[in-house]
Amino acid sequence: MRYPARAIDGVTIDQERHHHRGKTVALPEPGRVCPQDYYYGAGSLSRVAEIDATTLYVVGGLYGNRPALDAIELLATSERATLVFNGDFHWFDRNAANFAEVNHRVLRQHAIRGNVETELSRTEELGAGCGCAYPPEVDQQIVDWSNGILRELRVAAQARGGQCQALAALPTTLVATVGGVRVGIVHGDCESLAGWRFSAASLRLPGTQEWLDKVRLRSQIDVFASSHTCLPVMRSFALPSGPMVVANNGAAGMANFAGTTYGIVTRISTRPWRGRPLHRAQIGRVFVEAVPLLFDHAHWHSEFLSQWPAGSAARLSYWERIASGPAYTALDAYHLTDEVGPLHDPTHRVWIHRASA
Ligand SMILES: [Fe+2]
Repeated sequence: MRYPARAIDGVTIDQERHHHRGKTVALPEPGRVCPQDYYYGAGSLSRVAEIDATTLYVVGGLYGNRPALDAIELLATSERATLVFNGDFHWFDRNAANFAEVNHRVLRQHAIRGNVETELSRTEELGAGCGCAYPPEVDQQIVDWSNGILRELRVAAQARGGQCQALAALPTTLVATVGGVRVGIVHGDCESLAGWRFSAASLRLPGTQEWLDKVRLRSQIDVFASSHTCLPVMRSFALPSGPMVVANNGAAGMANFAGTTYGIVTRISTRPWRGRPLHRAQIGRVFVEAVPLLFDHAHWHSEFLSQWPAGSAARLSYWERIASGPAYTALDAYHLTDEVGPLHDPTHRVWIHRASA
């Protein structure tokens, strides 16, 4: 897999605007690039933590799903947990009233910007499209639809004053401590807001351990909680500098596995979840869990369909996944060898048989 930043040979949008030997350099396609201000670098996370919690829920990819927001608020309240929204909490909330409600409820909690909020908050158009930094293997039609959704969403964001400024004021990363474990909360990966290096495919690449060891030394982070790639993965690494867990929740507001409709959030706590997680890793005395987010999907389906009629970009691009999940399974997401909790389907209560690793 080629990473987006490398796919354009490290050329940023700002650099692209320059002419080369009297010739205008072709601009990369909107939706394929990482704007320069997306980069923060792993070293920026080596700071004093902004959050200290006993139980932390990291919620990535809510995508404007209000029933999923109801569910995560209830889940967090039931155990007095701290909520952090790690970006892309807007996406399908094209209705201006829905957008305003999601904005208000999310910004009452801790939150960072995803590429969606970052592009919505810009006062000057950079040509980044949706800011997804889609890698080359993603079909151009998908990229075009995403850029179209962002254009529609911008209208909803600008319908009420102050919303874009509030999004612009959000940080791009947060650092938390849970039971003495340092948690780096990012949207993409440890280096960039729209980085794809915390996808399941990227984490399998040769050299990942060496890279993460350098990241751990630079960032002093034990657990990374990410999202953005929209497909969940959790991996534990025994690095020379110490243990690390990378937990990508996939999507809180959209189905993550084939044949399912529930979202997933990352729970990090000094005590295990009282329910059955999809996956669990342990680091020190802290549990890192992929928790199913069961929301009223019938309500969500009607809300989505009312906002995105037939022929609209989101309907064409996402309806199949929303209704029946992506071509991805729990076995793609979670390593059998570093898992201590049971794998199961929380919707159907069907236990997934685990083969030996
Ligand atoms: Fe994203």
